Amino acid sequence: MRSRVFVMLALVVSMLVLSACGGGGGAVKIAILAPLSGDVATFGQSTRDGAMLAVEEWNAKGGVNGKQIEVVVEDSQCAAEAAVSAANKVIDQDGVKFIIGEVCSSASIPVSEIATAKTVFQISPTSTNPSVTVGEDGTTKPTIFRACFIDPFQGKVGAKFALENLGAKTAAVFLDQGNDYVRGLAEVFIAEFEAGGGQVLVKETYTGDDSDFSAILTKVKDANPDVLYLPDYYSTVNLIAAQAKEKGITAVMLGGDGWDSADLDRTALDGGYFTNHFSDQDTRAIVQDFVKKYSDKYGAAPDALAALAYDAANILFKGMEDAGKADPTAVAAALEKGTFDVVSGSVSYDASHNPVKAAVVLQVKDGAVNYVATVAP
Ligand code: PHE
Repeated sequence: MRSRVFVMLALVVSMLVLSACGGGGGAVKIAILAPLSGDVATFGQSTRDGAMLAVEEWNAKGGVNGKQIEVVVEDSQCAAEAAVSAANKVIDQDGVKFIIGEVCSSASIPVSEIATAKTVFQISPTSTNPSVTVGEDGTTKPTIFRACFIDPFQGKVGAKFALENLGAKTAAVFLDQGNDYVRGLAEVFIAEFEAGGGQVLVKETYTGDDSDFSAILTKVKDANPDVLYLPDYYSTVNLIAAQAKEKGITAVMLGGDGWDSADLDRTALDGGYFTNHFSDQDTRAIVQDFVKKYSDKYGAAPDALAALAYDAANILFKGMEDAGKADPTAVAAALEKGTFDVVSGSVSYDASHNPVKAAVVLQVKDGAVNYVATVAP
C-alpha cells in the first residue's frame, strides 16, 4: 500500500516537473482574460473553451516552436477595473508575455494600455471598438491586435441591412453612454442610417445599472419607428426586449455581436436580427470541421466568441512559429506580415492591426438563430 502511494506521488511530482518545464524544452506561458462570472458569463465560457481547444491541439502536435503551451485563466468580468488587475497579475506575478482577451471593449482598452507600456502582446478575440488597437493620438499600439472586425464596419452593415433589406425608413436607438462598445456601435449606426436617407426618431441613453426601461420605451411606442436598434450585450437586450414586447412595440429589433449567447431571450427577440462574426450554419469545410470538433468536446455548438477565441489562439501560435520565438515584438512583426486562414475568415492585418473580413447577419426566429446573409467589407 505504502509503495503504491509512493509510486503515485513520484508520478505526480514528475508530471508537475514535466509540465512546468514543458517536457524539458521550457514552456510558453499565455493568459486568457475573459468574463467567467457575472452578467455576461457565457461570453467568457465560450472564449475560454474556444481558446483551450486550440491550445490542446497545438500541444498535441508538439507545442509551439517545440515548447508546450501553458495557460493562466483569469476572470476579468468584462469590466475595466477587474481586467486591469487581472492583466497586472498575469504579467507581474505569472510572467506572462502573451494575452488572449478581453472579450468586451471597455475591458480590452485599459488592458491594451498596460500591455503597451510593458511590451506585452495582446490579441482580443472579440473587442470591436477601434480604440483597442489605436491610441488617442491615432497611432497603432505596436503589440496589440484583434481577431475580429471593428464597429465602424459592423454598424454600417446593420444600418444598410435595415435600409436595404428591411426597407426601414425610421429608427429608434438606445445606448449605454458608459460602455465603449455600445456607444461606439450606436454612433456608427445612427450616422450610416441617416447617410442612407433614414431618420432616427428616438435616441435615448441609459446606464449599465438600469433595469426599468419603460420611460424610454414609451417614447418608442409613441414614435412608432420601423426598427429599434439595441447595440448592447444579451443580458441588457433581454430586459429591454421583454419590456418592449409588453408595451406592444412592433418595431423590428436589431443589434450587434453582443446578442450572441445561448442565454439570449429568443422569445422576446423573436423576429429580430443581429450582425455577427460567425455562423455555425456556414457550410465551408474549415467552419464545419471546427463546429464538429468543438461540439464533440463541449457538447454544444460554438458561438462567435468560441470561434474567435479559437482563431485568436491559432493566429498567436502561428505568429510565434513564424517569428521563431515567443517574443512579443517579433510576434507582432509576424502578424503584420502574415495571412491567417482561420475559422472566421482569412485574416491579414491593416495598419491599425485590424483584420479586414466579412460580417454575417443572423435572425432570431421561432426559438432558433438562423443565418441570413454575409456582408463583405
Ligand atoms: N464586440 C463586443 C465588444 O467589443 C464583444 C462581443 C463580441 C460580445 C462578440 C459578443 C460577441 O465589447
